[in-house]
Amino acid sequence: PGWRTPRWLALNYSFYSCSRLWNKRWWPIFYKSLKMTSLKIAVLPGDGIGPEIMAEAIKVLDVLDLPFEMESALVGGAAYDAFGHPLPDATLKLAKEADAVLFGAVGDWKYDTLDRPLRPEQAILGLRKNLGLFANFRPAICYEQLVDASSLKPELVAGLDILIIRELTGDIYFGQPRGRRTAVDGHFPGSEEAFDTMRYSRPEIERIAHVAFQAARKRDKRVTSVDKANVLETFQFWKDVVTEVGKEYPDVALDHMYVDNAAMQLVKAPKKFDVLVTGNMFGDILSDAAAMLTGSIGMLPSASLNAQNQGLYEPSHGSAPDIAGKGIANPLATILSAAMMLRFSLQQADAADRIESAVQSVLAQGLRTVDIYSAGTTKVGTREMGDAVVAAITKTTKG
Ligand code: IPM
Ligand code: MG
Repeated sequence: PGWRTPRWLALNYSFYSCSRLWNKRWWPIFYKSLKMTSLKIAVLPGDGIGPEIMAEAIKVLDVLDLPFEMESALVGGAAYDAFGHPLPDATLKLAKEADAVLFGAVGDWKYDTLDRPLRPEQAILGLRKNLGLFANFRPAICYEQLVDASSLKPELVAGLDILIIRELTGDIYFGQPRGRRTAVDGHFPGSEEAFDTMRYSRPEIERIAHVAFQAARKRDKRVTSVDKANVLETFQFWKDVVTEVGKEYPDVALDHMYVDNAAMQLVKAPKKFDVLVTGNMFGDILSDAAAMLTGSIGMLPSASLNAQNQGLYEPSHGSAPDIAGKGIANPLATILSAAMMLRFSLQQADAADRIESAVQSVLAQGLRTVDIYSAGTTKVGTREMGDAVVAAITKTTKG
């Protein structure tokens, strides 16, 4: 009869050795697997073509076989119709608690007569503000197969790959005070007037400048800061602060350009840019111009990140109510936004690569939605385009 370890001691011992191992070796793996089970995505399809293009992006995410936890909610006009507010508390809560928000589009002419706080656009502005999404990435890439879809000469845009970084939570968009009042001075004292406030604080400029310089480091190491320092106090300050931050990045070339000149250069010689960084208002305008260089705004994804890397991902185009429900909208911008989401907020770079190469492959197959159609290619609808991307992904999975 040999001596036997009492059962409780054996258990204790194994727990002890196990827990040591656990801490040293297994904990990180376990932790990772825990994280793997919670890639929380808030899905906000919105209005117009939003739900159609979102359906295709979800289809694509579904075939990746990753542990997504997706929950959707109403936003924009759809939320106004159902709950009387474009950004209901429940939608905001869902977005705040998610690792990432996948956003379709909001807006419809029928809401244009509502009071401003109730209009669909307030949903996107409210999400930006409440989640602190200050850094907006708007890449403009001209796919080789689409050079002819651009309104510019092919040689001007072939191979275009620029990145607009737009500050997204400050400037005249959010500056207080704003409103209407009776003028006490100006050209017409005593008359009714409206006013907004353009303003930027040093930390706001510093953090977006850092984002731009760091992004440039991963690209061609050139930053163009866009301002209106010749006229505006706010943008002289912007220029000064960006210059200061630039000293911390001696490996990145910095230049400055007035916004009117930047608009001109974007249509004259867009390929000369690498990274453009600018304020909220100028970024809004320049990014639409840049989008058109690529042939179609229907191709362009965007990401809006906060300091915690939580992000909102949306196509750069709007809700296009004129073509809603027709099944012809281009879902690629939303699908590519999902890829950006995987890369930036969910740390799934491989999956992002798979989506991006699947999109390349459907374009190479000659499939085109109507917005990017040109003679000699095959016209497809929203759903067929999504299906083709799914097929391209499953094909690479099977090797
Ligand atoms: C954009 C849009 C928004 C903006 C609108 C819908 C509020 O134009 O994301 O560029 O002006 O920022
Ligand atoms: Mg815009």
